[in-house]
Formats: sequence, structure tokens, C-alpha cells
Amino acid sequence: MAVPLGGRGAPHRPVLLRETIELLAAKRGGLFVDCTVGLGGHSEAILQTSSNAQVLGIDRDEEALGLARERLAQYGSRFRAVHADFRELTRVLATTKVRQVRGVLADLGVSSLQLDSPSRGFSFRHDAPLDMRMDVTSGETAAQLLGRLSEVDLARIIFEYGEERRARRIARWIVERRERGEPIRTTRDLAGLVERAVGPDKKRRIHPATRTFQALRIAVNGELENLDSFLAQAVDHLEPDGRLAVISFHSLEDRIVKRMLLKLSGRCQCPPRLPQCVCGAESLVEILTKRPIAATDEEIENNPRARSAKLRAARRRSQVSDLRSQI
Ligand SMILES: C[S@@+](CC[C@H](N)C(=O)[O-])C[C@H]1O[C@@H](n2cnc3c(N)ncnc32)[C@H](O)[C@@H]1O
Repeated sequence: MAVPLGGRGAPHRPVLLRETIELLAAKRGGLFVDCTVGLGGHSEAILQTSSNAQVLGIDRDEEALGLARERLAQYGSRFRAVHADFRELTRVLATTKVRQVRGVLADLGVSSLQLDSPSRGFSFRHDAPLDMRMDVTSGETAAQLLGRLSEVDLARIIFEYGEERRARRIARWIVERRERGEPIRTTRDLAGLVERAVGPDKKRRIHPATRTFQALRIAVNGELENLDSFLAQAVDHLEPDGRLAVISFHSLEDRIVKRMLLKLSGRCQCPPRLPQCVCGAESLVEILTKRPIAATDEEIENNPRARSAKLRAARRRSQVSDLRSQI
């Protein structure tokens, strides 16, 4: 079922759906935690794959959760939704009295609901207050961040999270504008400033402000913070042979996932110059994806959001194989 959305009216299409469901081994049934339930696309596929499957859906966006609840109401008590940040997974599971689960899924980033919503301020396609918070009940908005950060920090964020080579120039323009007593308050305002700062570039296939918007969104929502801690929590709650699947959309995000999975599989991540391991690598999982799985050309054609998606997965080792590997 496609959930109709605001904005351009396109549904959110779950990416790498078949591959994710297979790697989660959802057909075995059991309890799965969809840590980024969004519009419920992946959750619905899990529920459809096995009549014994249950899903606990987490999202920090209440609007998305409401739509997911509506969409998945037909599955009755097999679907439950919790408004939370997935980085508090252990706390969420404790309050729902769950200790171990069959699978954990995180489909990182933003949904089409958020990007296409005319009022949430994620995109310059609509003029709206510069908000960009996934959870509108807490935290600083993008406008507040632009008003507070130093020029150096702004440049670093735009460069690192947006991979924008004109980051320093954009940061300078933002600060100059601020110093004139004219804070940047709306999406069009920021998009116009960036466009003027970097000037016309005929080679660019994307709007000149695309990278700056992506960077700000990542910073506002702290998207790269504590991702490693979340992955450790997820593995901690997997039952033996339970599965973890993570879809990322940004190279920095994928690098964190890759390194953390290697560490959780027992591969030391310490710099080679250290005489002994201090990273605490422990052989808890077996990695199921030697290389990340990417979308096929066909999927990308139908869903351009899938272009940058990378799927990595791991399975929790059983205690027996842990023991064997130690002998
Ligand atoms: C790409 S969408 C998920 C789409 C979903 N898989 C589907 O098929 O509809 C990502 C979702 O994760 C949520 N999200 C991102 N970071 C989060 C976090 N730290 N905690 C909880 N939810 C988060 C966003 O609000 C968004 O709804």
C-alpha cells in the first residue's frame, strides 16, 4: 500500500526492500525492531512476509509514526509504535519489557514525507521556516543553528556533511549576513544566499544549495552522533542468529556502520601503531555483506533516492559458535 503524502504527492518508496527482508530472514517470524519506521514500508513487508512476525516501530518523527500506525492498523497487535530516538534502543526495549529480538533494522536518513513536506523546512523547493528537525518537539532548528555557530564550525559542517567544496565561502556569507542583523529564517532565504555565494555553475546538475541543505539537516538532527553506540545496543539485543540490517545514504554514515560492524565481528579497529588492542573489538556477529549492497539500475530508475543507498547486515553469533571459535 502506498501512503499518499503532502508536497509533491509521491509516496515514500522503501529502498532495497527485497534485499533487506531477505537479510533480516523475516520469513522465520519473531519480533523485529524497525528503528526508523517512517511511513512503515519496510515494517509492512516484514509483517507480510510471515504471519508470525511482529514489529516494534520506532521513529523520532511523530507525524511519520501517526501515518505508520494508520497504515499498519490492519496488523492489529503485531505492530506497535514508539516515539523515540533509536539511540535509546536499550531504554525503549526495557520500557516495552523486551530483552531479545529476532532482528533490528535501521533505514537511516530522511523520508520523502519529511523532504517533500511544504512546512518542515527540509527542502528549498518550498518556502518554509528553516526548521529541519525530524523531532519537532525538541532540539535546535536549522535557523537557530545558523544563528549560533561560528564561521569555522559552519564551514566544517558544510564541508564534511555536505561535501561542498565552497563551504568556507558559504559560511562567510552566512556570518556576514548575520552580522548585518539580518538572520536567515526561511528555506528560500538560505537557498538564495548560497546561490549568490557560489554563483552560477552550469556543470552542476543539482541546485547549488543541495549540499548545504543536506549538511545542515545532518547537523540539526545529529545524524552521525552515537550511531556506533546504537549499533552496539542493537547487537546486544539480538538473539542468537538474530539479524541486523542498516541502510545508509551518506559516505560518513556508511563508514561508521562498516567500522562498527567490523569491530563487533572481532576485527580490531585500533591504529596499527598501538601495541595492544584498546578498541574492545569482540566477536559477537558474523558480517553477512562483505561489500555493501547497492540498488539495481532498475530500482534507481523507479526511485532516485535509492542511488546512494548502501545496505550492510550481520547475524548474531550463537554462544556455541562463540565457544568453538575460542577453542
Ligand atoms: C528513510 S526513512 C525510513 C523509511 C521507512 N523505512 C519506510 O519504508 O517507510 C528514515 C526515518 O527514520 C527516522 N529517524 C532518523 N533518525 C532517527 C533516530 N535517531 N531515531 C528515530 N528515528 C529516526 C526519520 O524520522 C525517518 O522517518
